[in-house]
Amino acid sequence: MAKKKGPELIDGRKVASIVKESIKKEVADLIDNHDKSPHLAAVLVGTDPASETYVASKEKQAHQVGMMSSVYRYPAETSEEELLKVVDFLNNDEEIDGFIVQLPLPAHINEDKVINAIDPKKDVDGFTPVSLGNMVLGKPGFVSATPAGIMELLKAYHIDLAGKHCVVLGRSNIVGRPMSILLSQKNEHANATVTLCHSRTENMEEITRQADVLICAIGQPQFVKASMVKDGVVVIDVGMHRLPDATKERGYRLVGDVDFDEVYKKASYITPVPGGVGPMTIAMLLKNTLMAHNKEFE
Ligand code: GUN
Repeated sequence: MAKKKGPELIDGRKVASIVKESIKKEVADLIDNHDKSPHLAAVLVGTDPASETYVASKEKQAHQVGMMSSVYRYPAETSEEELLKVVDFLNNDEEIDGFIVQLPLPAHINEDKVINAIDPKKDVDGFTPVSLGNMVLGKPGFVSATPAGIMELLKAYHIDLAGKHCVVLGRSNIVGRPMSILLSQKNEHANATVTLCHSRTENMEEITRQADVLICAIGQPQFVKASMVKDGVVVIDVGMHRLPDATKERGYRLVGDVDFDEVYKKASYITPVPGGVGPMTIAMLLKNTLMAHNKEFE
């Protein structure tokens, strides 16, 4: 992982479009063979703007690859019991191949309880304990879309992880923790030595400066500064934050967990925000939906 002449931008849109083209072709083949097209459903509780945007994007991109998509919308006051009934309905609806419950849920609903209720066979987000357990053990199963997308990006750019020190910032169940496990797995595209940093980590800068690959999923805008990385580092930025910006028509600009303008000068590869990790998440969700339709893990 020697320092290249300049940093190379990791183009998530390009890699995602390659993944989606291959899904689109497989879906077209299914239809040619008189099979149904795969059907993804999303459950959205409340009106959180970021969640609305994600769900709309998932629906649009499912249609782009020829899949069916349904969105089940419920008001923020929906009770946990009602939501569990929706999950039960989707678990048993043969028309639906896979579904997601968009997070975060309103505070009065126990997220773990809802996720635990999802049938692992339809768990295209890979959030259930069964999916997570299979991933930890290196067994076949749904891998959550963002970490799976990051592994795909690293593979697409031929970034060899074997024996490298990968530092993951953030220990969320959705990104940081599964990421740390995938990177350390015993397989051709992983085999990294992994350190997982979080809010209680001492001397974080000392650790991040040792990173050959730094995965930033800490949820704080522009947290990672140039002083925190070494020359030639590979930086993957999972963050997505709206910073108020009066010069933009929409009134904000998107930034990640990395102070891009500073850090990119030291990096050998870096993902931009937007256009890095984000597009991969939906591409991998669609890939999981195709696998659910094909009953690959049953
Ligand atoms: N909220 C933020 N990211 C995700 C995701 O990938 N899946 C779901 N269900 N909720 C999210």
